Amino acid sequence: MKLYQRLADDISGLIRNGTLRLGERIPSVREISRERTLSTATVVHAYELLEGQGFIETRPRSGFYVSGQWQTHTQGLSTRSGPRRQAPTAVAGATRSTRVDVSELVFQVLESARDRDLVPLGSAFPSSLLFPMNRLARCLSVGARNMDQWGTLDDLPPGSLELRRQIARRYLRSGARVSPDEIVITSGAMEALNLSLQVLTRPGDIVAVEAPAFYACLQAIEALRLRALEIPSDAREGVDLDVLAQALSRHPVRACWLMTNFQNPLGALVPEDKKRDLARLLDKHDVPLIEDDVYAELFFGRNRPKPVKAFDRKGLVLNCSSFSKSLAPGYRVGWVGAGRFATALQRRKMMSSLSTSAPAQDAIALYLRAGGYERHLASLRRTLAAQQAAALASLRRHIPADVRICRPAGGYFLWLETPSGPDAIEVHRRALEHGFSIAPGPIFSAKRAFRHCLRLNYGHPWTSQSDHAIRALGQILRS
Ligand SMILES: Cc1ncc(COP(=O)(O)O)c(C=O)c1O
Repeated sequence: MKLYQRLADDISGLIRNGTLRLGERIPSVREISRERTLSTATVVHAYELLEGQGFIETRPRSGFYVSGQWQTHTQGLSTRSGPRRQAPTAVAGATRSTRVDVSELVFQVLESARDRDLVPLGSAFPSSLLFPMNRLARCLSVGARNMDQWGTLDDLPPGSLELRRQIARRYLRSGARVSPDEIVITSGAMEALNLSLQVLTRPGDIVAVEAPAFYACLQAIEALRLRALEIPSDAREGVDLDVLAQALSRHPVRACWLMTNFQNPLGALVPEDKKRDLARLLDKHDVPLIEDDVYAELFFGRNRPKPVKAFDRKGLVLNCSSFSKSLAPGYRVGWVGAGRFATALQRRKMMSSLSTSAPAQDAIALYLRAGGYERHLASLRRTLAAQQAAALASLRRHIPADVRICRPAGGYFLWLETPSGPDAIEVHRRALEHGFSIAPGPIFSAKRAFRHCLRLNYGHPWTSQSDHAIRALGQILRS
């Protein structure tokens, strides 16, 4: 191998494994040539090769930086071919399943969203200021003090009976009939979703997902070596049932993974009639649904929207949720109402993490029993609705008129379609330079689509810094 190729390989390897991350500066030609005792011509040759492959880019008078283009190069996609929601390429996706390879890009984006100095518009989390952390801490301390020698055994899968009873009561309010025996407590919704997928599938199976989809769903599919069949989803009414019906007729779909309440990233809320139709469709094809319902409590209307689980007649719906977004971020307490798969789920949970932290389960059960959850939820919903209004007002002031934004009826995400702006990965990179993060569209797609879309988080207090960030976003989109 020639010297310049060797150098290019070393650098691209570091980019691929995430050691050098998107937007990071790489050493100058002079530095590398000195440190590796190579001629400057060799280094320049290597950098030209990396630039051609999309691993790095030159910024005039500034140097060389890691670029996100290599992922599109490797996928053989055009960077300018991002779909619009009204005519998503995902419709074509429903005719062909895709092997998924999104993790690297997702990790890069998530890592940058952890920087405390950034305005967290790209974050997946709401602010912890919105939650009753002191009261929860008291429950944790009481729960831990009261734990007797049987506590750890009692809370083994399926999990604390008291907590499962409390959750079953809440299901009743949401219109679904779920008994405590059907509920398995997990370490957050993420584990509930992953265990559900593991129980339902074998490598190579096809799973129908939304386009765009929550990136962790795509990562789970990637990790289990499954194939994603993308079904287009609309920012108002969610997944396209006609395309899903066709897909179920034409493909051996092993399971669906969908969000019908305030979908991440779109914020879509599937109307109740459509949820009923969806349940019927799955029933007809005998296909299980992994229903990710983590945002359902964050509604701005009068009532909690029903889950598809409320229309499930055969025990086909595995309704996965948690307290992470509504009560206790960081406690890692979630669950799955697993229908006919409850025993398999429980066994799989024992094989993976054995059990969810007993003090955390007991603390939440104690909190729910003591009352006050509804009051907290009412105040949380009011705050989020007010933050949404502030975010939309900022966007109206600063964002180009052709950017399309939907107004979700709950949750804490806004989905922007930016038809005339730069590629979303580029927007992400430039946002970091301006001191804020965004979540670029391609992380929500098995095909790296949605290159002119981005997701913004309004789950943090809306401050003058948030407004400045939106102003800078407007400038980036106009550039
Ligand atoms: C759509 C969706 N599902 C599941 C999760 C994971 O929830 P948990 O933190 O309870 O594991 C998240 C978190 O960001 C999410 O956005």
